[in-house]
Amino acid sequence: MDMKISPSILASDYANLESELKKIESSDLIHVDVMDGHFVPNISIGAPVVAAIKKVCGVPFDVHLMISNPLKYAEDFAKAGADIICFHVESESNTRETVDKILSLGKKAAIAVKPGTPVEEVIPYLDDLAMVLIMTVEPGFGGQSFMEGVMPKIEKLRELGYKGDIEVDGGVNPETIKIAARAGANVFVAGSAVFKSESPKETISVLRSNAENA
Ligand code: DX5
Ligand code: ZN
Repeated sequence: MDMKISPSILASDYANLESELKKIESSDLIHVDVMDGHFVPNISIGAPVVAAIKKVCGVPFDVHLMISNPLKYAEDFAKAGADIICFHVESESNTRETVDKILSLGKKAAIAVKPGTPVEEVIPYLDDLAMVLIMTVEPGFGGQSFMEGVMPKIEKLRELGYKGDIEVDGGVNPETIKIAARAGANVFVAGSAVFKSESPKETISVLRSNAENA
């Protein structure tokens, strides 16, 4: 399976987003964390910033909506240039309607589950999803530790025959990526591991080869 690295710009320098994006142009996706201060405690960035950085970056955008009402805002993010729109099954929006909305906007749909949420909640939607995001930390903050205890959720999806992408997000580094890859994940978000490293480009290639050789 194709292994994809999706650096999270949450860990980047927001004062210099264009040059930060240049550092990660060898990545497969760009992970954009959108937080509303309601679904999670923090507020990060919104659609206008996504639209601005889309103009200076050719790598597809993997937009992770940590917001209470993704159904209301999906269109804004589609227009801003999101390629994959990922929302939480725990949000207040109706899951079926939100998946349908994203697909009707011509975008790839993904559903995220928090560490405490059973993976069974996404099963009814699998046929329509390009990706499932299994959170490996509680959403809301970068720099937390990888929760190995959620790996059975990934294994379960693969056992069920799910062939789409499975993404892990939170605490991914050159060591923990191997654990997630062995469980069946193939898309890896890494914020701190990439941006706090001396060479983000080199780190992306180490992450990719560690996933491929796990
Ligand atoms: C957490 C975000 C993550 C975060 C990951 O709520 O969804 O994408 O940026 O950061 P690291 O890789 O530092 O754990
Ligand atoms: Zn994220």
